Amino acid sequence: MPNPIIIANWKMNCTRAESLEIARAIAGYAGNHNIVVCPPFTVLFPLVQALKNLKLGGQDCSAHEKGAHTGEISASQLKDAGCSYVILGHSERRRNLNEQSELIREKATRALNSGLIPIICVGETAEEKKLGHTLEIIGEQLLSSVPAGANPGNAIIAYEPVWSIGTGVVPKDAEVAQAAEFIVRATKNIPIIYGGSVNGDNAADLLKIKNISGLLVGGASLNPKEFWKIVNSVNVTV
Ligand code: 13P
Repeated sequence: MPNPIIIANWKMNCTRAESLEIARAIAGYAGNHNIVVCPPFTVLFPLVQALKNLKLGGQDCSAHEKGAHTGEISASQLKDAGCSYVILGHSERRRNLNEQSELIREKATRALNSGLIPIICVGETAEEKKLGHTLEIIGEQLLSSVPAGANPGNAIIAYEPVWSIGTGVVPKDAEVAQAAEFIVRATKNIPIIYGGSVNGDNAADLLKIKNISGLLVGGASLNPKEFWKIVNSVNVTV
């Protein structure tokens, strides 16, 4: 696997000072690793100014280009702030803000038009898994969230089973492999990363799973030592 991508999703955590401390530690060991940090919007620019060698992403963007949309941030504003990626359709937004796949597709189109790489999240809930609907749910989400212009060179799909996020429970390798195989076929080879309770102990095994090109890391990415273990596990697989 060529240089897997390790993406940190800091969610709604960190003051400016805390962000700088964590990001400096990460930048210190980033080297040739393919790391992207997605901090809260408020600290994007301070991080750009302080650290030249970290790639950055937003955690969301607007479906609108510009104008009267109070509280929203556009894809082109993220680009202007120094981002090259944006996470879209995270299950916390799908669930808590009732974001639908069609809206996520519009956001992803804006991202592509602004030259950002959208990281489009898909994944089933515990209930959907129990009913055996995992692939059906992923299929519906892909069909409605991934814009026509997305291709293996300009987009990423994050497979994040909702029941695995923040729970410490990780799917079996075979379950991740099955979902990844399905996504590869459905999207004609858009790269897939895995997210959900990734830590320093399970990262190397997750990266060995067929069709998994990287990891989307929540909680563990706020701890530079733990995140280093994850980043360093890339060496084990290449
Ligand atoms: P955790 O790594 O904390 O489970 O979060 C995963 C996630 O939601 C990344 O987007």
